Amino acid sequence: MTKIKNIGVLTSGGDSPGMNAAIRAVVRASLYYNIKVTGITRGYEGLIQADFTPMDGKSVGNIIQRGGTILKTARCDAFRTKEGRALAHKNLVESDIDALVVIGGDGTFTGADIFCKEYDFPIIGLPGTIDNDLVGTDFTIGYDTAINTVVHAVDKIRDTAESHDRLFIVEVMGRDSGLIALRSGIGVGAEAILIPEAQVGSEELVHRLETGRKDKASKIIIVAEGDEAGGAYVVGETLKEKFPNADIRISVLGHIQRGGKPSCMDRVLASRLGVAAVEALIAGKTDVMAGQVNKEIVFTPFSQTIKHIDAHDITPTWLKLVEILSM
Ligand code: F6P
Repeated sequence: MTKIKNIGVLTSGGDSPGMNAAIRAVVRASLYYNIKVTGITRGYEGLIQADFTPMDGKSVGNIIQRGGTILKTARCDAFRTKEGRALAHKNLVESDIDALVVIGGDGTFTGADIFCKEYDFPIIGLPGTIDNDLVGTDFTIGYDTAINTVVHAVDKIRDTAESHDRLFIVEVMGRDSGLIALRSGIGVGAEAILIPEAQVGSEELVHRLETGRKDKASKIIIVAEGDEAGGAYVVGETLKEKFPNADIRISVLGHIQRGGKPSCMDRVLASRLGVAAVEALIAGKTDVMAGQVNKEIVFTPFSQTIKHIDAHDITPTWLKLVEILSM
């Protein structure tokens, strides 16, 4: 058992719904175990600028239901440098913060991994990203909310698509990962899903549309932001050329996918993992992410969490499912 006296908590990278529930859990668990807790503003930026605020039970009241992050977030270039990390370490030591919980995605964990090793500083990570692209957890905090946001939006698009006999190409988030596209695409009954991992490509898409059923009033194609076909507008141009008589529209959902009230699944996941992170620090764990796999809490070294290509469901079976269901 390590005697931790003051845990710093921060959110970093793109925000995700449920980050506030995670902060709340870290704060309340720390207090439960008689450990002080300090909020760090704007992720690693706040570490470097010593932007620290002591937190108590009340400071996280009425936030479990709120999207975004009360601690604010940033992507911080200075933390990638030795000098930046040295300043961050000095600030932590001077403020008697002796452990960290970092909530974010692969960029956050890459930084945490380096910092842990460089300064032998205890850090536990919580998977906070809408992308679900981390190994070591079935779901990341924010993913469930994000895919439900997509489903609600595309259901509305479907209404107008059906009324006008239109084909819609809808672009969803995921610069490096098609996991938002894959699940939400299945959820909305998409005709095809274009994701970076699968390389369906415009040609294959054209082939599917040419050979597919002609009596559908509406068709939805989901394209992940990072797909190699080049995004919804490029795919739209290709389809307009090939099918000049089709009525085609583009819709880019953008950052609405990152905001909004977290779903109950995300709130519970965040709460459970937040408490687990504090308990893990007390037990002497470090340099790992807390995740949930098959309902159990598991800890995965940071270095193994960020190979998103191995993550979850991008398997031929899932892609075949999309094809079967679009008959
Ligand atoms: O990592 C989460 C994410 O929402 C990605 O899906 C997306 O590509 C990226 O962040 C967008 O980042 P920004 O808000 O900085 O444009």
